[in-house]
Amino acid sequence: MKDKQQKPIWIQNISQLVTLASDKKGPRVREEMRELAIIEGGSVWLEDGVIQDLGTTREMILKYLPRAEEAEIVDATGKIVTPGLIDPHTHVVFGGSREHEFEMRLEGASYMDIMNAGGGIHATTRKMRSLTEEHIFNQTTRRLDLFLQHGVTTLESKSGYGLDLENELKQLRVMQRLQNKHPMDIVPTFMGAHAVPEEYRENPEHFVNLVINEMIPAVVEEKLAKFIDVFCEVDVFTPEQAERILLAGKARGLIPKIHADEIEENQGAHVAARVGAISAEHLLKVSDEGIEELAKSGVIACLLPATALYLGEKPARARAIIDAGVPVAISTDCNPGSSPTISLPLVMNLACITMKMTPAESLCAATYNAACALQIEDYVGSIEIGKQADLVLWDVHNHQKLHYIFGVNHVKKVWKKGVKVVG
Ligand code: NIG
Ligand code: FE
Repeated sequence: MKDKQQKPIWIQNISQLVTLASDKKGPRVREEMRELAIIEGGSVWLEDGVIQDLGTTREMILKYLPRAEEAEIVDATGKIVTPGLIDPHTHVVFGGSREHEFEMRLEGASYMDIMNAGGGIHATTRKMRSLTEEHIFNQTTRRLDLFLQHGVTTLESKSGYGLDLENELKQLRVMQRLQNKHPMDIVPTFMGAHAVPEEYRENPEHFVNLVINEMIPAVVEEKLAKFIDVFCEVDVFTPEQAERILLAGKARGLIPKIHADEIEENQGAHVAARVGAISAEHLLKVSDEGIEELAKSGVIACLLPATALYLGEKPARARAIIDAGVPVAISTDCNPGSSPTISLPLVMNLACITMKMTPAESLCAATYNAACALQIEDYVGSIEIGKQADLVLWDVHNHQKLHYIFGVNHVKKVWKKGVKVVG
């Protein structure tokens, strides 16, 4: 929102201003992911919520010295500035927690065993149904605060813990309220097909029909979501069901994305390609043919290395995926079961450590390519004149260090729409 009272912010002496600017439109692939367009000794002027100008500190002083008194000056000596991080895949709106399942898994139970026995997503669904909207709102607010403190200024948020019309709408309305009340930008996704709820266990087809015939129209009617997602997985939704649901959403204007080939190879990447999904998520078990399908159809791979680590699974084959020309984004998958973290910086470390992505690729995957996965790259995801002033100041003097030193929160300050929200 425009705030005329807000003083301009003038950041100077930035050891690396990591802009990710490029003339190329659309998600970055292969070596493009390593081109960060860094300005050494950079400076940026933020005004009226947008990036007004940028350049080297020397150039900017020549231009802006006459206006210096109007601005709040930030000396960024020895520090870097990047675009605000973007998390393109979260289940951040939930109540309760599942630490007892964590213990069960440590003792040998699998994620799917727990879910099939009525825990997992079902446990969080019972919470969503029993807790008040206010309670869910308050718990989520605290999580969003933490996300901001770790440099995330925009995130996607999925429903899928209601699994009935009333509670799916409740979860999505919490997102809408948070979008209006919290500095975080929230991009909502309808994921009514996150699990077959227990009351439909004997009749999954009836639930699929309910999603298609009742939930999608209601969500669209209230304009509560931009995307539609399905958990396409053995023992959850079949590829055929996933395709039907995604196409039904698409027919009503929702953009498809899909939880694909996470626990087992299940044709998820193929479904993504067939329905023209913007992204396919997880892909721990994607086949070589699946990767080719993604590349051919321009689907973005959204990889979630914290989830793989937390479930004790082998990481996704990021190198093969990037080499095939598939653009990669990365995300926390923040949820109470398979990835209870809000730290996208940790995920960036893991992208390097466990998936052998380079620091530059990882940063691109958590900013510009993540923006593309949410179709918001025209106003966020890189530091360019006219874009929204979502920036992070990090207490490291080069961008590699952000990835190299892990388990530390390097965030010094965060600006959202030109307003300081952290630091
Ligand atoms: O992306 N895989 C399905 N959904 C989430 C987990 C949700 C949960 O366990 O509550 C995921 O990992
Ligand atoms: Fe997920």
